[in-house]
Amino acid sequence: MTAVAAVNSPSARDLAYVLHPYTNARAHEAKGPVIIERGQGIYVYDDQGREYIEGLAGLWSVGIGYGEERLVEAAAAQMRKLPYYHSFSHKSHNPGIDLAEKLVSIAPAGLARVFFANSGSEANDTVVKMVWYYNNALGRPKKKKIISRLRAYHGITIASGSLTGLPWNHRDFDLPIANILHTACPHHYRYANDGESEEEFASRLAGQLEAMILHEGPDTVAAFIGEPVMGAGGVLVPPRTYWQKISQVCRKYDMLIIADEVINGFGRTGRMFASELYGIEPDMLVVSKQITSSYLPLSAILLNDKIYQAIADNSAKVGTFGHGFTASAHPVATAVGLENLRIIEERQLVKHAAEMSPFLLKGLRDHADHPLVGEVRGVGLMAAVELVADKKTKRQFDPAGKLGAYFFERGHHHGLIIRNVGDSICFCPPLIIQADQIKEMIRRFAATLDDAQAWAKENLPA
Ligand SMILES: Cc1ncc(COP(=O)(O)O)c(C=O)c1O
Repeated sequence: MTAVAAVNSPSARDLAYVLHPYTNARAHEAKGPVIIERGQGIYVYDDQGREYIEGLAGLWSVGIGYGEERLVEAAAAQMRKLPYYHSFSHKSHNPGIDLAEKLVSIAPAGLARVFFANSGSEANDTVVKMVWYYNNALGRPKKKKIISRLRAYHGITIASGSLTGLPWNHRDFDLPIANILHTACPHHYRYANDGESEEEFASRLAGQLEAMILHEGPDTVAAFIGEPVMGAGGVLVPPRTYWQKISQVCRKYDMLIIADEVINGFGRTGRMFASELYGIEPDMLVVSKQITSSYLPLSAILLNDKIYQAIADNSAKVGTFGHGFTASAHPVATAVGLENLRIIEERQLVKHAAEMSPFLLKGLRDHADHPLVGEVRGVGLMAAVELVADKKTKRQFDPAGKLGAYFFERGHHHGLIIRNVGDSICFCPPLIIQADQIKEMIRRFAATLDDAQAWAKENLPA
């Protein structure tokens, strides 16, 4: 991190005026910001001219990489023509219509309608409200509970933050709200019993889900929400047969299945949607991030016709569907989204991600023998390396997360930006990354790993 700089410098003004999201404010006062000035391809550059590989594509999101002029042009053209219009009260515009049609055409079967919002959190708050509205519309006012999972990440607004299953998103925020439950996290390495196969673990988790539903009363449980591959919880790849077994339980109790593909969608797992990869048939699918490669904020919820019809009937009964955002289907964001999806298709980035995946996963697995490496996991172009104090027992360093935090900071020194979730080092590079760039990213990772080993020896009890 840059040292705190002179009065009136950008660093000093950052410290004077900004409250940063997801940041320890007191630590920030001591360290100061890293000011990122520009980006090109998989690289970003700070205001000191230092180059970094963006190993997390910003926040799991800049799929087509930095500096894509076509998105700049798409935004400028739309701004000139119609910078803003809303979609309330029967109004519409072409970019919103075109993107909705495009999303339905590439989505998993059965998803027929699109509702636009601006962030993943807003979209998941909308999902919760839609599930409640849907069940009220069907005359099932008791069927309201939504089951999420420990270590899930669905956002930070009141309802989506409640769906999230991470302690720091609940603590002191008075979350979760009522009617949100969390079942077990499907991370085999951490939570499987000794000798339990992936399939056995998946069966056990499906059994736990069923027990929770029966305990709560099936007539009170409305939906299950999950990221097909969990992202911000530490890139947790589901055990084999997990989604089939979970889906069966949900169907048995007439629950909606909601796939949160805010990270997974648009090629991240080597398929257009991870639901395809795991045979999930979602009733609702949530997307954001790579929909515009984060050049502009945009999110969308795709729903099946059954849900749409119930909502439509109820809106007629009540007089309106009383939900929507000023910037729902923002014309500039949807125009950029359309152009971004065109680029993903033209450059075959979904196939490219699948082709690059072995370079990333094998490259990281080549370091599996390193004393700090407990597990290497991943799918497509998302991966994580979990650092442990003892490879055999999987024991974590104490306090958990301290080594990960060191790794995150030290990575900057080697020109690498990753994200640590506790002591898991997460990778999610832009989809455009090439084999030689993956190699370089892993070289920088390995250099940081050796530094982390030396640092742990000095600073953490073994
Ligand atoms: C799976 C998932 N859902 C929802 C969100 C929340 O999105 P946002 O930060 O745009 O509110 C995220 C953010 O990382 C996410 O990974």
